[in-house]
Amino acid sequence: MQSSSAIKQNTFADDIRRGLSAAPKFLSSKYFYDDEGSRLFQEIMKLPEYYLTQAEFEIFSTQTGEIFRAFTTANETFDLIELGAGDGSKTSLLVDYFLKQTADFTYVPIDISGEALSFLTEKFKAQFPGLSIQTEQGDYFQTLETFRSKSNKRKIILFLGSNIGNFGKEQAQNFFRQLRAVMNSTDLLFIGFDLQKDPRVILCAYDDMQNITAKFNLNLLTRINRELGANFNLENFSHYASYHPIEGAARSFLISRKAQTVFVESLNKTFDFAAWEPIFMEISQKYSLAMIEDLAQTSGFEVSQYFFDSQKFYTNSLWKPI
Ligand code: AVI
Repeated sequence: MQSSSAIKQNTFADDIRRGLSAAPKFLSSKYFYDDEGSRLFQEIMKLPEYYLTQAEFEIFSTQTGEIFRAFTTANETFDLIELGAGDGSKTSLLVDYFLKQTADFTYVPIDISGEALSFLTEKFKAQFPGLSIQTEQGDYFQTLETFRSKSNKRKIILFLGSNIGNFGKEQAQNFFRQLRAVMNSTDLLFIGFDLQKDPRVILCAYDDMQNITAKFNLNLLTRINRELGANFNLENFSHYASYHPIEGAARSFLISRKAQTVFVESLNKTFDFAAWEPIFMEISQKYSLAMIEDLAQTSGFEVSQYFFDSQKFYTNSLWKPI
């Protein structure tokens, strides 16, 4: 029988083969987050241009009481489940406040990166000795499958950091439909959406002066080199970011700076790149409130509340199942 790591390896290899064989070429941004990718993303979140983290942090620090009241009507026990927890810095504001209110809950962070989860657990255990915490490592969708067999406590599911922005429209709808299928009528979903705004502000967030976003994208080529025995020369690729104001979509590409051939040993296959040929790497969708409401409705929810930062750059939206 195949071990789970072998299954994961095949999926990665298959996806890379598919993406590099396609026209236009693409690589999935879900593979950005190996340990180095997770570390680089922590750096992105501290960049002055990357306003998203600061905006969500502002919401969590200035409206903690309102959020708590929106989550909990009676003093019942609940699971605070976080999908894609990262370093949990925003959630720690909620956890701190909830514990001070003597709320009875278990914090359940889920993340693809084992390193990020251990870091988070250490940090939270030191910061909140009384906190009940249960971690889950894995892909969101695979982990969601196991939700049914989890505790039957009321679930408050957090999907923060504009992570939904990295899904296409249909993928976002499927994701929320799948979530809806494992939620009871009193469960809640709390989602971070980056809002449409001055296109220049958005573009700078994905094209920072220190080139950390470029390193973040290029790191996927390093990962392919390491895990699949490829020979990408990173100097032959450059990062390019765009924002399309009609679609509300920020997109990242790696551009082949010259005609070149790359060999991927695990696939026993070469891939040709023309000079200036792009590889599509990531979409970061920016939403209008109408788009959020449409997405909620078409996936079985209604929007019950919005929380905004002072610049209205960002919203955390609370959804109820219908
Ligand atoms: C994780 N995700 C919401 C980030 C975003 O804004 O799309 C990933 C990222 N890509 C480049 N910078 C940040």
